[in-house]
Amino acid sequence: MDEFQDYVLLRNIYHAAIREVSTKLEILDDEFQVRYDYNPIHHMECRLKSPQSLFEKLERKGLDIRLESFYKITDIAGIRVICNYIDDVYAVASLLLQQDDIKLLRRSDYIKDPKESGYRSLHLVVQIPVFLSDRTELVPVEIQFRTIAMDTWASLEHELKYKRVGGITPQMEQELKDCAEAMAEVDRKMEQIHKDL
Ligand code: GTP
Ligand code: MG
Repeated sequence: MDEFQDYVLLRNIYHAAIREVSTKLEILDDEFQVRYDYNPIHHMECRLKSPQSLFEKLERKGLDIRLESFYKITDIAGIRVICNYIDDVYAVASLLLQQDDIKLLRRSDYIKDPKESGYRSLHLVVQIPVFLSDRTELVPVEIQFRTIAMDTWASLEHELKYKRVGGITPQMEQELKDCAEAMAEVDRKMEQIHKDL
């Protein structure tokens, strides 16, 4: 029972961390609107990992289903930031990292070095303090920054991969990778048009 109570409290803390980071991002986006009449963030999606997928991940990583193990999972709190252009991704990410109460724990640049699948995004795992009545918790939040084109590819690829029971064929995999390259080319061209305006 105590464990259950702790779990509910912990989820609440992760939820608070998501709200803090997403508010920071909204404030940056609003400031850009006021100063430059431009919004670098197209939209955001926040999610708290479901108990089922959390337990699946603990199992996959060979960790005990105990509260202490949660600290090894850094994507319980997740935010996806969909930007208009590649430049916006790096601009918003670096402005967030400049803030005093944000600490960078991990940075994976899958835009510079795309994954084998063709997947592109900038992943940051940051730590943010959540102030409670009796203590301060330092909470990790995973942020995935990507363009609209990268997001389109990632959602469709995810859907296609999980739709087929036996997984997709190597040929389909190659075709999806080609699509990711094509999307990246569109991103570059659209960004150039935006810069030339
Ligand atoms: P995990 O233990 O699975 O979190 O691996 P990791 O810590 O190495 O994380 P990674 O940096 O690979 O990013 C994991 C997350 O990125 C996933 O939950 C997806 O949201 C996204 N992702 C990574 N690779 C792909 C991919 O090939 N396709 C899609 N659609 N999403 C991906
Ligand atoms: Mg991860």
